[in-house]
Amino acid sequence: MSWKVLITASGFGQTGQQALQMLGQSDCQTIIPPKLGPLAAAELIPLLPGVDAVLASLDDYSANVLGAREAESLKIIARWGVGFDAIDIPAATKQGIVVTYTPGLLDDSVADYTFALLLTLARRVHEGHASIRNGGWKIEWGNDVAGKTLGIIGCGRIGMAVARRASGFAMRVLAYNPKPKPEAEKLGVKFVSLDELLGQSDFISLHAALTPETKGLLGEAQFRKIKRGTFLINTARGALVDENALIKALSENRLAGAALDVFATEPLPLRSPLRTMPHVLLSPHQASSSRETGERVSLAAARAIVDLMQGGQPENALNPEVFKAPQLRAKLSPVK
Ligand code: DGY
Repeated sequence: MSWKVLITASGFGQTGQQALQMLGQSDCQTIIPPKLGPLAAAELIPLLPGVDAVLASLDDYSANVLGAREAESLKIIARWGVGFDAIDIPAATKQGIVVTYTPGLLDDSVADYTFALLLTLARRVHEGHASIRNGGWKIEWGNDVAGKTLGIIGCGRIGMAVARRASGFAMRVLAYNPKPKPEAEKLGVKFVSLDELLGQSDFISLHAALTPETKGLLGEAQFRKIKRGTFLINTARGALVDENALIKALSENRLAGAALDVFATEPLPLRSPLRTMPHVLLSPHQASSSRETGERVSLAAARAIVDLMQGGQPENALNPEVFKAPQLRAKLSPVK
């Protein structure tokens, strides 16, 4: 049996060679559309007829898309990455669609990048670079990180990997998480309330998943509680932060600066004030984009598709109850 696999993950072009080979050797027919993800519903739906599996970017898999007639042959969404906020998991289960992701494969890559942003922002590396590029030679005075406090919001795998780096840089580490984690406490991380973290941190780094509860977690009220002169780093999801409140906090110099890899709308609209504000370091959602990590993630996502196609239960399913669902069973063994 040969499956049609739609690939919209944008990292695949650079890092998907081995994964493409695996799909080809497993007799899958791959479809790579001219525009890669993240795709909006109107762009996605016309690509879905006859598709058995998608290797997905942050495309809009809302209930409408999943329930569309065009999506009726879809059996698996293999998400390239760890964030699955764009997928309505209960709606996927209802339609008999397995959703998998790739946890644990990109923690170091994202943590390295977070630290690169933190150090760049603190020491104003990008401003020195821009000065020379523009014909100047202006020394920019930055801030030390040793001895400073880093507040990690969301201390899961990635947050922990950031905490490990911070302790190597002689920082004090606070974290806000639904539950304290003994493994993090062993590293010296102190779990505190969100207000305590906001009031005590010199650097705040976001690593929480985007859920209805965490959407807008940092809004105007929270920015007022942040210690003056704090730096914010966001490599998680743009919508964790109320962007207007962030812009206000930056323009009132309540924040010393922000390094942003993620935004409420991506690509960041041309008219966004963030594009031109001073003390803002911008990056195009590339914290997990290292070649080695990309190859591992591409292979893991492709493996999930091949496993389901060959009658297995792929690892890292977000809705394992779907394996028992009659809707999925019917799709996997259609009546001839
Ligand atoms: C993730 O894994 O969710 C990253 O944001 C890349 O998509």
